[in-house]
Amino acid sequence: AKVRHYKWEVKYEFKSPDCYRKLVITINGGTPGPTIIAQQNDTVVVDVKNSLGTENLAIHWHGIRQIGSPWADGTEGVTQCPVLPGDTFRYKFVVDRPGTYLYHAHYGMQRESGLYGSIRVSVPTGESEPFAYDYDRSIILNDWYHKTPYEQAAGLSAKPFVWVGEPQSLLIHGKGRFNCSTPGLGLEPATCNNTNPECSPYTMTVVPGKTYRLRIGSLTALSALSFQIDGHNMTVVEADGHYVDPFVVQTLYIYSGETYSVLIRTDQNPTRNYWIATNVVGRNRTTPPGMGVINYYPNHPKRSPPPANIPIAPVWDDRRPRVEQSRAIRARPGHVHDPPRSSDRVIVMLNTQNEVDGFRRWSVNNVSFNLPHTPYLIGLKHNLLHTFSQIPPPEDYDRARFNVTSRARNSNPNATVGDGVYRLEFGSTVDLILQNGNTMVPNNSETHPWHLHGHDFWVLGYGEGEFDPKRDPKGYNLVDPIMKNTVPVHPYGWTALRFKADNPGVWMFHCHIESHFYMGMGVVFEEGIEMVGDLPAAIGGCGETKGLKLHGKP
Ligand code: C2O
Ligand code: CU
Repeated sequence: AKVRHYKWEVKYEFKSPDCYRKLVITINGGTPGPTIIAQQNDTVVVDVKNSLGTENLAIHWHGIRQIGSPWADGTEGVTQCPVLPGDTFRYKFVVDRPGTYLYHAHYGMQRESGLYGSIRVSVPTGESEPFAYDYDRSIILNDWYHKTPYEQAAGLSAKPFVWVGEPQSLLIHGKGRFNCSTPGLGLEPATCNNTNPECSPYTMTVVPGKTYRLRIGSLTALSALSFQIDGHNMTVVEADGHYVDPFVVQTLYIYSGETYSVLIRTDQNPTRNYWIATNVVGRNRTTPPGMGVINYYPNHPKRSPPPANIPIAPVWDDRRPRVEQSRAIRARPGHVHDPPRSSDRVIVMLNTQNEVDGFRRWSVNNVSFNLPHTPYLIGLKHNLLHTFSQIPPPEDYDRARFNVTSRARNSNPNATVGDGVYRLEFGSTVDLILQNGNTMVPNNSETHPWHLHGHDFWVLGYGEGEFDPKRDPKGYNLVDPIMKNTVPVHPYGWTALRFKADNPGVWMFHCHIESHFYMGMGVVFEEGIEMVGDLPAAIGGCGETKGLKLHGKP
């Protein structure tokens, strides 16, 4: 195994990813940032210099479990203090499994400013994947707002609440197109210029007659997406770093924090090019599609635009095909990781929108999460138990108070804000049941992509309506469940997950929608804190950690 060393400088620059000029966060001058390419069991070292000038920073390695390096998870407030402007922080971790992963800012709503990228881990030399392909490409999908995350955050925490609204555009690997002559905006060409080469569509040039592995990741702030390529089927072979029993789709649905590998054959008429399209699903879209081009070599990528056949966007509120795709994702035969047959603890997590003291929040079992000032990893390891609430969050919700099948407005006025943690017995098996319901808008239930740090979980099942603890576990898939790190809970439905609490550290589990997490939609798990080695000094410095002497090495 090798050591892969990266040196990154993170700063603000003016860019026009969708033709609209705004301040974005770049890594070494680009957004998305560089793709980290490594082999299984390599050590990745990233020296990150915070050149943001007046802003803190933290970077999370999404999907990397950080076994033995919980302090490198990059979750500000949980595993580290933020990296101050001018400082350089060293992230050092082992990529222990092949697959497709992501990285992104994990400080405030900073991810939305463009600080993200992909991680591609290949199998060791001499080993092979269970499928064949000629070329390997990474594509990150994102939604894009013209307002800064500061303006959005200020609105979200204002009274009355100001919602961030729908994104202005969708980006395919950092490129989108906002219509600069949108009536009423009066945008000057210096602000928005549709002929700016920075916002020419994402173009992937392909050789005819080959198989391409496309590693598609989503890091949207809000949107669930569809992904389509005109004239090309996609065979899904990987999800979140695990091999999938292959199935063919024309439309791939992808939620923020998920990754998929699909195989495509470049076997269509090579004298023309083809559109790639991504659309918002699950919300009444006002955002135009994100468009890219599959350019068959040797057609000219710019001078031969694809014919008008743009793939037809799925109906936004038809959730059936999305639930079907979720259910179709099974582990590939020969690559099944057997789940424990039963669990030691079941935590049911009701997802609700609430008013707390007149502030709009999201909650789990009526507790809306706030990050403490002292990172949990340091607070727990050094017994600074006054730095967060010692009252553990609830294991279930009050069924008499909340009817999950009702379609009426549900405001849950009895919610509170908290920072307690779930302390898990080391090595125990934990089931998490995500339960959805109606929001504060009548007849509305949203899709939430939940992401677990530090682990992969088995996806045991999805259901409609209210989870029944007697009946529903009988239908769990214990035969070939996929393992993932991010999974949707569909509107008015539930999702059942199982994981082993066997990674010493402190780990977030949260909705990957940036504004939902900001509004409290998350929880924290602690397991095996006493087995965590000496914490590196660089993660400290904030809150109650100031007087501590931390001795570990990154
Ligand atoms: Cu990709 Cu805690 O997030
Ligand atoms: Cu959410």
